[in-house]
Amino acid sequence: MRQITLHQLQVFEAAARHCSFTRAAEELFLTQPTISMQVKQLSQAIGLPLFEQVGKRLFLTDAGQTLLVTCREIFERLSMLEMTVADMKGLKQGQLRLAVITTAKYVVPRLLGPFCQRYPGIDVSLKVTNHERVMERMAANLDDLYIVSQPPEHLDIQSHAFVENPLVVLAPPNHPLADAKHISLEQLAGEPFIMREPGSGTRKVVQELFDRYEIPIKVKLEIGSNEAIKQAIAGGLGISVLSLHSLNLEGNNGQFSILNVEHFPILRHWYVVHPSGKQLSVVARTFFDYLQAEGRQIADLKNALEWSAELAHFAQ
Ligand code: PGA
Repeated sequence: MRQITLHQLQVFEAAARHCSFTRAAEELFLTQPTISMQVKQLSQAIGLPLFEQVGKRLFLTDAGQTLLVTCREIFERLSMLEMTVADMKGLKQGQLRLAVITTAKYVVPRLLGPFCQRYPGIDVSLKVTNHERVMERMAANLDDLYIVSQPPEHLDIQSHAFVENPLVVLAPPNHPLADAKHISLEQLAGEPFIMREPGSGTRKVVQELFDRYEIPIKVKLEIGSNEAIKQAIAGGLGISVLSLHSLNLEGNNGQFSILNVEHFPILRHWYVVHPSGKQLSVVARTFFDYLQAEGRQIADLKNALEWSAELAHFAQ
């Protein structure tokens, strides 16, 4: 195995990630026969086949899966070495891999702006997906840091809450309950609800609240995107629960009313999280510290909380 080269591992990793020699060749600007040859030599050095072809599809064998895990560990180590050496030279550079829940996409890019200006050598890869997928990515150790509203209880993790994330009930402005005060959950039972997809943290917390009071939710529409949900509310299809931050960018503009419902807003936080055992790269540690020190101030929830007079009654 000592004959194995880094180049072969790079080729193999790309082929395994794409499950395709052709796409690996495109990505690495190599020819398809070169990819086949490198994978063949690697598999000879390992002594077992790495891929198997079933029909037209390519699958990793067990040996291939194991090699892929090792490959990722080697590349992660190398990139940490690069960052540590850059840090010794007084530079912060390398890649920061973040996976964040969908509600955080309204704030994380704004946090990244000043961060990347301060550290121009840092490149960011930002994966935005729902709570369940972020948890899967954490379990597979795919990213440096994760931003979630509900840190996992069953994993040993380090976390820090850096910004509030209140969830509110949104309705179209002409909704009959728009001016009502202290709306009960029972009153919402008959309302057509627009729900996020299963696996969403927002959905889970809404469902748990209604389940706790044994009130059924009439789900009219299920959509996997906060932005599409906003359009559906504006289009009069129903009401929904979304993060207040989802209104922050463009403000309310009279498109929505925030209903004054008991138990709302659901006050949550965003946490930056990583598994305790994970050795953070210099870049990831720098971002973690930055969120702790400056996250709240830059995300500036105050703007979000202040734009709407309708929210004032929650403060009373
Ligand atoms: P979601 O997460 O994007 O999975 O709904 C939001 C949250 O958990 O607050």
